[in-house]
Amino acid sequence: MVKLPFGSSVLLGLLVLISVSLAQSNNSTYNNPVLPGWHSDPSCTQVNGTFFCVTSTFIAFPGLPIYASKDLINWKLISHAWSRESQLPGISWRTTGQQEGMFAPTIRYRNGEFFVICEYLGMSEGIIGVLFRSKNPYSDKDWSDPLRFRPTKIDPDLFWDDDGKVYVATQGIILQELDLKTGKLSEPAISLWNGTGGVWPEGPHIYKKDGWYYLLIAEGGTALDHAITIARARKITGPYEPYAKNPILTNRRTNEYFQTVGHGDLFQDTNGNWWGMALATRSGPEYRNYPMGREAVLFPVTWNKGEWPILQPVKGQMSGWPLPPPNRDGVPGDGPFITDPDVYDFDKGTSIPPNLMFWRVPRNGTFSVTDRGLQIAPSRNNLTGTPFSTRTPELSGQQGLAFIGRRQTDSLFTFTVDLTFNPTAVGQEAGVTVFLTQVNHIDLGVVLLDKKGAQGSKELSLRFKAEGTGGPPASKTIALPKGWAAGPIRLQIKTANLTHYSLSASSADDPKSSVLVGAASGALLSGGNGSFVGSLVGAYATCNGAGSGVNCPAGGTAYFKRWRYEGDAQFVTATKSIPSLGKIRE
Ligand SMILES: *[C@@H]1O[C@H](CO)[C@@H](O)[C@H](O)[C@H]1NC(C)=O
Ligand SMILES: *[C@@H]1O[C@H](CO)[C@@H](O)[C@H](O)[C@H]1NC(C)=O
Ligand SMILES: *[C@@H]1O[C@H](CO)[C@@H](O)[C@H](O)[C@H]1NC(C)=O
Ligand SMILES: *[C@@H]1O[C@H](CO)[C@@H](O)[C@H](O)[C@H]1NC(C)=O
Ligand SMILES: *[C@@H]1O[C@H](CO)[C@@H](O)[C@H](O)[C@H]1NC(C)=O
Ligand SMILES: *[C@@H]1O[C@H](CO)[C@@H](O)[C@H](O)[C@H]1NC(C)=O
Ligand SMILES: *[C@@H]1O[C@H](CO)[C@@H](O)[C@H](O)[C@H]1NC(C)=O
Ligand SMILES: *[C@@H]1O[C@H](CO)[C@@H](O)[C@H](O)[C@H]1NC(C)=O
Repeated sequence: MVKLPFGSSVLLGLLVLISVSLAQSNNSTYNNPVLPGWHSDPSCTQVNGTFFCVTSTFIAFPGLPIYASKDLINWKLISHAWSRESQLPGISWRTTGQQEGMFAPTIRYRNGEFFVICEYLGMSEGIIGVLFRSKNPYSDKDWSDPLRFRPTKIDPDLFWDDDGKVYVATQGIILQELDLKTGKLSEPAISLWNGTGGVWPEGPHIYKKDGWYYLLIAEGGTALDHAITIARARKITGPYEPYAKNPILTNRRTNEYFQTVGHGDLFQDTNGNWWGMALATRSGPEYRNYPMGREAVLFPVTWNKGEWPILQPVKGQMSGWPLPPPNRDGVPGDGPFITDPDVYDFDKGTSIPPNLMFWRVPRNGTFSVTDRGLQIAPSRNNLTGTPFSTRTPELSGQQGLAFIGRRQTDSLFTFTVDLTFNPTAVGQEAGVTVFLTQVNHIDLGVVLLDKKGAQGSKELSLRFKAEGTGGPPASKTIALPKGWAAGPIRLQIKTANLTHYSLSASSADDPKSSVLVGAASGALLSGGNGSFVGSLVGAYATCNGAGSGVNCPAGGTAYFKRWRYEGDAQFVTATKSIPSLGKIRE
C-alpha cells in the first residue's frame, strides 16, 4: 500500500466526495406513475433512442395502446395494435366477461419491425394467441392482422435467440418455439420454472445477457402479494437457478402508497443504463379506494456484467439514472401525451381522438362526428345491460355499448361536456359516467320519464345512478330545472376529494346554475368485479331496453360538444400531491 501524507488523504477524500456528489447531481428525479391511469402489464423496449410501451386493455377497444417517449417521462399515444374489427372478426361481440379480452402483451423490435404478442381470453374455443406486426408503429393502419396461435397459458413473451429461433414463454412458466409463418407452437412445452412459491407465476420475459438466459416473472397474484422474481440458466431450456434474494421487486407487506408492484419488463437507454416498467396501484396499504386500478411505473435498474439485476423499489418520487433530456417534440405521431388534458369540440371533419375508448368494438354508426358535435346513437342496452328475457343483466354488450370514455389519469380531475338531447320516448337517456365495468359505474343522465301524477305526460329529468362493489348510494331523480331544455346541458364529473366523485349539471348558457345531483364513493369502482381494469370517464346514450333485438326505437340520439378533461392533482404518497401536468389553457 502506498503511504500518503495526511494532506493527500484529505485531498483524496475530498475528490471522492466531489465525484460522489457529481454522480448524485446527475442522477435525475421524477414522479410515478409515468403512465397514470389504467395501464396494467406494461412491456417496453427501446429502439434507436425512442422508448415504446404497450399495456393491457382487456375488452376495451381500440386495444393495446402503443406509447412512445424520447425521455421516459413524456409518453405519447402513437397507435393501437388492435384498432380494426376486421383484425379479429366477431370476437369482441362474443365476449361477455368484463375482464376478458387482451391480456398482458409483450412488445419487441427485430430487423426493422415491431411485434406485439398477446392473447385474447373469454372465447369458448379457448385462448386465442395473437401476434401483430408493424414497420411503422406511429400508424394504426400499419399494424397487421394478427397471426393467430393456440397457447394453453396466458401472458406470452417473445424472444429471439442468437440462432434465430423464436420462443414464447407463458404463464407456468413454460417455453415453446413459435413458427412465425404458421403460428405453430412446438410440443411438448418445456417447464422452465415454477417461481418461488407465490401463486400464478406469470408475465415472463426472457433476456440474454453475458452468457446467461434471465427469466423475469411476476408471481403472488396481481394484488397485494404481487412481486417480481428472477432465475437464470446457461441454456434457454434450463435448468434455471433462482436468485437467492428473490423477490427482486415488491411492495408487499409495506406501508407504501404504491402497492401491487409487479409484472414488469426491463430495457436499456442509449447510455446503456437499465430501466424497468411494472404495474402498481396507488391504494395505500388499506387498499380500499383505487378506481384507476393498476398504473405503469418506471424504476431504475442496476445490472452489472454477470450479476443479477438490482431493481429500485417503487415510490411516487424516484431518483435514478440520468434521464434522457426532455423531448416532447421529438416524438412523431398525432396522439395526445398521456398527461395532456382533453379539449375536444368535435368540430365537423375532425375524427374521434385516439385516447377515447369503447367497451368492445362499437356497432357501426354508433359514434360519428357531425355538424352538431359527437353524435352517439343510443344502444338498447344501458351501461349495465338491460335484461331481455331473464332478470340477470345481459353482459354481452349487444354489439357494443353506446359508451365512449378516456382513462381517469389523475387522482383529482374535472370532466365536463355539453349535451344536446331531445328525446321523444320514455326511457331515452344520455349522460356522463365514471365507468369501470358494466357492473361498476356512476352515472348522471338526462332521461325522459313519465311525469308522476300526471298521466300521459312526460318529463325531462336528471338522474343519478351508481352501482358497484359494496353499497351504492340510492339513485336520485330531479326534474330538469325550467329553461334548461332549450340549450345544451353541461354535465360534470369531479373528484370531490380522493374518495368521492360528485356529479352535477348546469345550463351550458349559465354555468352558475349548477346543481349537484349526486356523489358516490370511488370504492364502488375499486376491485371486486373490476379488479383488473381501471376507471374511464365519458359519455353514453341508451334507450334502456325499449325496441327489439339490438335496435332502439327511432329518436334519442345525443350530441356532445365542448368535452373537457383536466387533471387537478396527482397523489405521490397517501398525503402528498403534486399538480397535474395537463392544465387547460383557453
Ligand atoms: C455523471 O456525470 C459525469 C460527468 O459528466 C460522468 O462522468 C458520470 O459517468 C455521470 N454519472 C452517471 C451515473 O451517469
Ligand atoms: C436512428 O435515428 C437516427 C437519428 O434520428 C436516424 O438517422 C436513423 O436512420 C435511425 N436508424 C434506425 C435504424 O431507425
Ligand atoms: C413445475 O411444476 C410442475 C407441476 O408440479 C412440474 O411438473 C414441473 O416439473 C415443475 N417445473 C420445474 C422446472 O420444476
Ligand atoms: C444513480 O441511480 C442508479 C440507478 O438507480 C443507482 O444505481 C446509483 O447508485 C445512483 N447514483 C447515485 C450517486 O445516487
Ligand atoms: C361497418 O362499416 C365498415 C366500414 O364502413 C364495413 O367495412 C363493415 O363491414 C361494417 N360492419 C358491419 C358489421 O356492418
Ligand atoms: C339498466 O339495466 C339494468 C340491468 O338490467 C336494470 O336493472 C336497470 O333498470 C336499467 N336501468 C334503467 C335506467 O332502466
Ligand atoms: C369527500 O367528498 C364526499 C362527497 O362530497 C363527502 O361526503 C366526504 O365527506 C368527503 N370526504 C372527506 C374526507 O372530506
Ligand atoms: C360481482 O361480484 C359479486 C361478488 O363477488 C358476484 O356475486 C357477482 O356475480 C359479480 N357479478 C358479475 C357480473 O360478475
